[in-house]
Amino acid sequence: MIYYFSGTGNSRWAARQIAARLHDTAQDISKLRQLPDLTHESQIGLVFPIYAWGAPEPVLSFVKKLPKTQVFTFAVCTCGEEAGYAMKKLSDLYPFRSSYSLVMPNNYIIGADVDDAQTIHKKIQDARNAIQALTNEVAQHQTVYRVQEGKHAGLKSGLVNFGFNRFARGTKAFYATDRCNSCGLCAQNCPASTITMTNGKPVWGKTCYQCLGCINACPQRAIEYGKSTQKHGRYTIDAYVND
Ligand SMILES: Cc1cc2nc3c(=O)[nH]c(=O)nc-3n(C[C@H](O)[C@H](O)[C@H](O)COP(=O)(O)O)c2cc1C
Ligand code: SF4
Ligand code: SF4
Repeated sequence: MIYYFSGTGNSRWAARQIAARLHDTAQDISKLRQLPDLTHESQIGLVFPIYAWGAPEPVLSFVKKLPKTQVFTFAVCTCGEEAGYAMKKLSDLYPFRSSYSLVMPNNYIIGADVDDAQTIHKKIQDARNAIQALTNEVAQHQTVYRVQEGKHAGLKSGLVNFGFNRFARGTKAFYATDRCNSCGLCAQNCPASTITMTNGKPVWGKTCYQCLGCINACPQRAIEYGKSTQKHGRYTIDAYVND
């Protein structure tokens, strides 16, 4: 089984590509209602995005509860640029035999703009090639650590990641503009189930993973996060792939 968590589709797409090449199935961990039974699995993969040089909170919670297994295990993160020590820290929680990073289009539109179209296409093509290589290695049960850590990884995956989880995951800055047509998609798709529709408009609760799925995927481009996103583009992988 290839488990995944994804806000804007990069990790979902990568998980499905990996699963198809390994003749396996991809499963969204945010839709799991009970802990999986791994008895009949031939391998366990986990694919997720990097948030502030770390793994997202729901991914950390998932691996802490995931039963240990004798079959081959591997983890793949997707990131806009670099993962720091996220994969090493994850392996402290669960014995993944192999770890990989895939550089994919950036979805963090609070701190920066989206990548330009040419960069997006190139990153996705490079990710396709990287997935081909890594699935060949997984099929042969090779132990590999191929992660783009970047500079100052200790500081970024330590103090900066701590600060992100402590101070940067609030929902107060989210709001829907008059462009909102009350379709309800943001509420339906929020992996934290934190958005409720009230009088036809989304209202954000407290718990948020900062996956940025709601703001990037709104079909009306009606969601903003304070002022910082007003001049930034929006990204989901669905606009760039059809597989
Ligand atoms: C809150 C947040 C923090 C992020 N931090 C990083 C980071 O530290 N390093 C990086 O390279 N990309 C970072 N990104 C970009 C995502 O990791 C990247 O776009 C990822 O592929 C998105 O995956 P998804 O489409 O499956 O959600 C961040 C994105 C978000 C939403
Ligand atoms: S997805 Fe956009 S248009 Fe639809 S309810 Fe949410 S904010 Fe409104
Ligand atoms: S509120 Fe938005 S950013 Fe937060 S978890 Fe839900 S979809 Fe993701």
